[in-house]
Amino acid sequence: MTAVAIDGPAGAGKSTVARAVADALGFTYVDTGAMYRAIALRALERGIDPADAGAAAELASSVDLTLRDGGVYVDGRDVTGSIRSADVTRSSAQIATHAGVRAALVEMQRRMASAVDVVMEGRDIGTHVLPNAPVKVFLTASLDERAHRRAREVGADDGELDALRTAISERDEVDRGRVVSPLAQAPDAVVIDTTGRSVDEVVAEIVDLVTERS
Ligand code: DC
Repeated sequence: MTAVAIDGPAGAGKSTVARAVADALGFTYVDTGAMYRAIALRALERGIDPADAGAAAELASSVDLTLRDGGVYVDGRDVTGSIRSADVTRSSAQIATHAGVRAALVEMQRRMASAVDVVMEGRDIGTHVLPNAPVKVFLTASLDERAHRRAREVGADDGELDALRTAISERDEVDRGRVVSPLAQAPDAVVIDTTGRSVDEVVAEIVDLVTERS
């Protein structure tokens, strides 16, 4: 099986790029952030405190989580839309700090990558989940560009840019600062700064890397 690992901070363009690379190569796209979000959503629904490591880990190892055709399903329910709320976004960063939660989800991620060719997107894919992936990419973009992209995504106007910048940098801090598998660049990752670059350009660069290395 071949794997392409795509890591980077929130808003660097990972999802758009990873999905397009998967389409171009005929690989399965795996959005690991959606998995942490799904656990966070279930925790909120069940009244579990996202800071409670034990309860969160038990939840992560007991839910039935499926990624299928671009959709996310938990215990048979389609949660694709509801995992994108601001509440879930905030809680998912906290849920992702717990070693027990990560162990359960990483096991699922490795199982997927052993069954099919994947383009897997996240924060720790190149460093921890798939350290032997032949192609590792670390996507970045300036904070300003990331805030503008997020604003377009959620239909926010320019007056909300400062708040978006703050929310993005706060999440970066949580993702980079956690003890277990923090957001980090693998030493053998190719760094691509997407600031001012088109999606097509970045996708073509990654597809070329895969072609060269396989
Ligand atoms: O990529 P995203 O914004 O959907 O991710 C949601 C949260 O999950 C984010 O705060 C970081 C965390 N995450 C993680 O810790 N490890 C991953 N492999 C993917 C996401």
